[in-house]
Amino acid sequence: MCGIVGYIGVKPVKKILIDGLRELEYRGYDSAGIAVLQEGSFSLFKAVGKLIHLEEKAHDYESSGFAIGIGHTRWATHGKPTELNAHPHMGANSYVVHNGIIENYQELKAMLIHEGANFVSQTDTEVIVHLFEHYLKNTPTPFDAFKQTLAKLEGAYAILLITGSASDTIFFAKNGSPMIIGKNSDNETFFGSSDAALIGKCTEVIYLEDGQYGYASGEVIHLYNGESHDVTLRFTPLSGNKLSAQKEGFRFFMEKEIYEQSHVLADTLMGRLRDEQIHFEELESGLFEGINEIKLCACGTSYHAALTASYLFQRHAAIRTSVEIASEFRYREPYLTSDTLFIVISQSGETADTLESLKMAKRHGLKTMVICNVDNSSMVRLADASILTRAGIEKGVASTKAFATQVCVLWMLSLYLGEIRKTLEATEIRRQIGLLRTLPSTVTVDSNMHEQLRRLSKRYLHGHGFFFIGRDVFFPLALEGALKLKEISYLHAEGYPSGEMKHGPIALADPELFTIALLPQHKLYDKTKSNVEELSARDSTICSISPLDFDKADDHIRTKQLDDYMLEFFEMMVVLQLLSMEIAIRLGNDVDMPRNLAKSVTVE
Ligand code: M6R
Repeated sequence: MCGIVGYIGVKPVKKILIDGLRELEYRGYDSAGIAVLQEGSFSLFKAVGKLIHLEEKAHDYESSGFAIGIGHTRWATHGKPTELNAHPHMGANSYVVHNGIIENYQELKAMLIHEGANFVSQTDTEVIVHLFEHYLKNTPTPFDAFKQTLAKLEGAYAILLITGSASDTIFFAKNGSPMIIGKNSDNETFFGSSDAALIGKCTEVIYLEDGQYGYASGEVIHLYNGESHDVTLRFTPLSGNKLSAQKEGFRFFMEKEIYEQSHVLADTLMGRLRDEQIHFEELESGLFEGINEIKLCACGTSYHAALTASYLFQRHAAIRTSVEIASEFRYREPYLTSDTLFIVISQSGETADTLESLKMAKRHGLKTMVICNVDNSSMVRLADASILTRAGIEKGVASTKAFATQVCVLWMLSLYLGEIRKTLEATEIRRQIGLLRTLPSTVTVDSNMHEQLRRLSKRYLHGHGFFFIGRDVFFPLALEGALKLKEISYLHAEGYPSGEMKHGPIALADPELFTIALLPQHKLYDKTKSNVEELSARDSTICSISPLDFDKADDHIRTKQLDDYMLEFFEMMVVLQLLSMEIAIRLGNDVDMPRNLAKSVTVE
C-alpha cells in the first residue's frame, strides 16, 4: 500500500529518490520522506500529504559524490498521517522505511521501551529501527543485528534500513510485501517496491522472494534466504514502459485489481483474526454500549456492501439493521434515535452524499463509524470510529477490490458484534474465522475460469438487457454484478431478488433477455433454482453460476465446491467482475475510465 525506494551511487540522490517516489505516489500520499547518508552524516526530510510538499521541504538540499538514501510514500495503517508518523523512522543512528504490517509491534515496543528506547511515532514500523539498534549494542556487525531484528518480526514487510555504523550499505528484507533490486551499467544500485520506480534508471532487476534479505555495500549485493544461505543473484531485464509496469502485465488496472484481491484480502484480515475472536485494534471497547440498531449508509458499490452486511448483522448479531442510499437519506427527514450506530461505507471517504449523511447523523447526536479505504479522508476524520479496509489505491473506476475488502470487514464486524452481544456460539465464531482465513485463496483467479469467461463473453454483447438474480446476500451481489456490467459495457443490466421476477419483470423474458443466475449450493439453492426455471420456461437465455449442474441453463459457469455460502459469495463476485470486464473489452471500451464516470464523486 505504501511505496519504497533506495539508492546507492554517485548521482544526486535526492532527485533519484523523489523521482522514484513520484512513480509510486498513486499507492499512497498521506506523507512522504527521504533519508540520505553521506560521509557519515544524515539528512532527513519528511512532509505530510503529497510528494510536492516533500520536494518543497528538501528544495535547498543537494548531495554531490557517493551517497546512500532511502525514501517512502505512505498509505497510513497505524497512526494518523502526521509528520512524526511519516517514514523514514529513526533510531539514534539509523533510519528505516517499511511496507506492510508488523503484527507483534506492541509487544516489541513494550520490551524496547522497558530497555530505554524513545518512541516518537504511533507506527508499527518504528520498532524495527529500535530493535536493530538494541541488537547492534551486543553484536559484532550491523548485518548480524539486522538478522536478529528480522527473526523477531511477525507479519508482512519490505524493509530498507541504513545506519551510521555502515555508511555505504543498505540492508533490505522482503516478506509478504514486494521489493525489487536494480542495477545498471554505471554500477549504481536501486531499490523499489514496484518496478515502475526503477524504469529508466536500471537495465536489470531481481524480484526478491518472501524470506529473502541481505545488504548492498557500494556496488556489491549480498542476498540470503531464510536459512542464511547465499542466494545466487539472478537479474532479469527490465522493460521500459512505465504505464505497463504499473499495470504489471495486465491489460487494465481493473484486471490487475481483480487479480490483487487475494493479496489485499490477506492485508484486510491481517492482525484481525484470533482463534475465537475478531480483533479490531481501532475500536474502543465501549463503542457498542447502548446501541440497539445499526443504520448503514453508502452509495453505489459501497451501498451493495452495506446491503450484504444487513443480512450478516441481523443473522450473526441479532440487531435491527437498516440500509440507506445516501442521496435519498439526506433529504428524507429520517427519524433517528440515539441508540443507533450510524455506519457509512465508502472507498474514497469523500463521496459528497455519504459525507453529508455522516454529518447529518452527527448533528442528530448518533454515534458514527466509517468503513473506508483512505485513512486521511474527510469521512475518517469526521466519524467517531473508523475501520480501514486496506485495499490499497484502486485505480479502475469500476470498484472491485474495494468491494471485496468492504464485505470482508463487514463480515468480521458482524462476528465481532455477535460475540459482544452473545448471539453467536464460540464454536460458530471459530468456524467462521476458519472460513475467513481461506478468503485469499477463495478469490485467487483460476486461469481456466478466466479463459472460459473470456470465451463466453462473445455471446453476451447484444440483447435487450441483463437480469442478475439471486437470493439473500446473493441479491446485493446480483446488484453489484449488474452495476459492474452497466458501468463498463454500457449494456442495460438490472439486479433483482430472484423471487421478485414473477411480480413483473418476468414479462420481459425472451431469448434476447439474458439472465445471470447466482445459484450457490449453501443458500436457498432450491428456491433460487425454481425461480430460474420459471425464466427458462419463458425462453430467457440463462447463464447459471453454480457449483452444481443446472440442466436448464444455456451456459453454465461452474464454481468450486466450497464449505459455506459466504465463500461462494466471494468466488461468484470474482466471476461477475471478470465476466463484465471481458464483455466490456470485447466491446472496445476503456474499462478503467468508462464514459461519464469519475472515481470520486464529490458532487451531489
Ligand atoms: O468512494 P465511494 O465508495 O463512496 O464511492 C461510491 C460510488 O461512487 C462507487 O462505489 C461507484 O458506484 C463505483 N464506481 C462502482 O464501481
